[in-house]
Amino acid sequence: MKHVGIVTSGGDAPGMNAAIRGLVRLSVLEGFEVLGFERGWEGLLTNETRHLGPRSVGGILNVGGTILHTARSPRFKQQNSLERAAQVLEENKIDCLFVIGGNGSFKGALDLSRHTNTRLIGVPASIDNDIYGTDETIGFDTAVNTAVSEIDKIRDTALSHERTFIVEVMGRARGFLALTVGLNVGAEVILVPEVEIDKREIIRTLRENAAKGKKSSIIVAAEGFGDTRKLATEIEKSENTEVRLTVLGYVQRGGSPTARSRTLAFVFSEKAIELLSENSGNDIVALRNGEVSSVPLEETCKHRKKLDLRLLELAKRLST
Ligand code: F6P
Repeated sequence: MKHVGIVTSGGDAPGMNAAIRGLVRLSVLEGFEVLGFERGWEGLLTNETRHLGPRSVGGILNVGGTILHTARSPRFKQQNSLERAAQVLEENKIDCLFVIGGNGSFKGALDLSRHTNTRLIGVPASIDNDIYGTDETIGFDTAVNTAVSEIDKIRDTALSHERTFIVEVMGRARGFLALTVGLNVGAEVILVPEVEIDKREIIRTLRENAAKGKKSSIIVAAEGFGDTRKLATEIEKSENTEVRLTVLGYVQRGGSPTARSRTLAFVFSEKAIELLSENSGNDIVALRNGEVSSVPLEETCKHRKKLDLRLLELAKRLST
């Protein structure tokens, strides 16, 4: 009988629980034993585990966060930690570990793969959607919808007060979340770390909009773009106008997953279990052009996902 493990690591993402449910139930149908590791990589260092079965994952598919808990684990980079984790996997006779998480988690999995024969299969879950090889990650759609519904409310007050708002969204050093959110709220300006833009250019756009009769504007900025507070002050001074800043923050990481995030969790789980019957190496499951497939873990960690700049251009043309 195969023994499989599940760990959720890094920043939580809505739909991680749906992925746990999918992996557990499909594993049990295959006759596998399932062990959950607690608190991300920390659970592999402290051997904190729990047995998971179809009933222990009941009633969680609509719940945000992760029942296994998660953590950032900087010590996991150290050689002795990786050796300890490999030992814990061996003690528990784990043939395959499913790693539900983002880039940091997959980097940890790759490092661990140098110390263990346990198969490592990544299941992409991150609100940042910045994982190379997959068009989408579990949780991204939910975070986009959360941010869009909050910014739609900000639009009401922006229009009423004829003000400019800067709304900062998450995404770490990348602009995937900001771009999709900006496009969908009709942002007048979208600021992403991948595209350098001069403060004067932002001001020029705001002035052009004012000349066209727009009395309020929404600027959506990725957290990785830079200092949004400073930008707000600079625009206020230059334009002699009121600029308000909202940092959306952690609301984007919580909440019930959308149907799209849940579906992705289920089809990714199915693919992850399918990979086990194939004789391949350490991979992540992925969505590419609508097809569920897989990408070698090493390749994912080596490359940087590209932002679709055509969407940025489209958003610009639509906000005239
Ligand atoms: O990776 C998900 C994410 O929410 C990023 O968007 C953000 O930069 C980061 O996690 C915040 O990390 P922490 O939870 O450690 O504060």
